[in-house]
Amino acid sequence: IKLKITDREGVLHEVDAPTDMNMNLMEVVRSYELAPEGTIGICGGMAMCASCQCYVTSSHDLPEMSDDEDAMLAEAFNVKDNSRLGCQLHMTPELDGLEVELAPES
Ligand code: FES
Repeated sequence: IKLKITDREGVLHEVDAPTDMNMNLMEVVRSYELAPEGTIGICGGMAMCASCQCYVTSSHDLPEMSDDEDAMLAEAFNVKDNSRLGCQLHMTPELDGLEVELAPES
């Protein structure tokens, strides 16, 4: 699927992500090195650090947040109505065309 990811410098990247590898958005960002090493995915995708927070700017129907994601975002900085944890968004065909911005490092 194609994704549009705006990095923390405001630069837009159009990337391809596979849907058959159980990858999440945080892993896609890391694989394309769209954020400096050590600033995203700090907890390894456990919904425990919020370093992978992003703002979803397209109007996709996203999967419901888990209680863990909801609780982490309740404590995180720079949270907006469209915040999600990248590590909790798995690449599925429904997310083709997804547009996100990486939240500032906190
Ligand atoms: Fe830590 Fe997503 S990588 S919350």
